[in-house]
Amino acid sequence: MNEELDPIRELREDHKKVKDYLLELIDALNKKDAQRSLEILILLDKLGGPHFRFEEETLYPTLKKFFGEEYYRYLLKAHDKVITAAKKIAEVLGKGAITEDEVRMLISIVRSEVLPHPIECEGLALLMDRLSKEEIRAIAKSIERSRNENVPLLEWAETIRVKKV
Ligand SMILES: [Fe+2]
Repeated sequence: MNEELDPIRELREDHKKVKDYLLELIDALNKKDAQRSLEILILLDKLGGPHFRFEEETLYPTLKKFFGEEYYRYLLKAHDKVITAAKKIAEVLGKGAITEDEVRMLISIVRSEVLPHPIECEGLALLMDRLSKEEIRAIAKSIERSRNENVPLLEWAETIRVKKV
């Protein structure tokens, strides 16, 4: 058995990686490099599946007592937006080449629909020092479980995720 994960550190490290991938994706799109953009999208899909999964299965419901039902729903809708954006980006990049117009559209989608997630979700770590040891342990287990099952974002969204886009 591994040493127990620190959920705050894991959450932050995931967000840092996602932020770096997204900035690299914007750069690759600007260069009209469809192949590299698709590679980065695949990395984001792999990382984002387990990440969104533990957030929705454990982290958000546990933190709901602090921010309430309305903000909880807002967070789920923010995930919907990312899923819809990822589908759209995959669809365009799947063609193998990108036009100038598509570059502009995809960069705008990344900036307005995807990048806000790591920025906002990072702030949730602020609330996590109010959780009990048991709650932190449950979140750590959820992170481990979702990483072990390792279902990518778009597959998770179509299959396991209860809320459908
Ligand atoms: Fe997150």
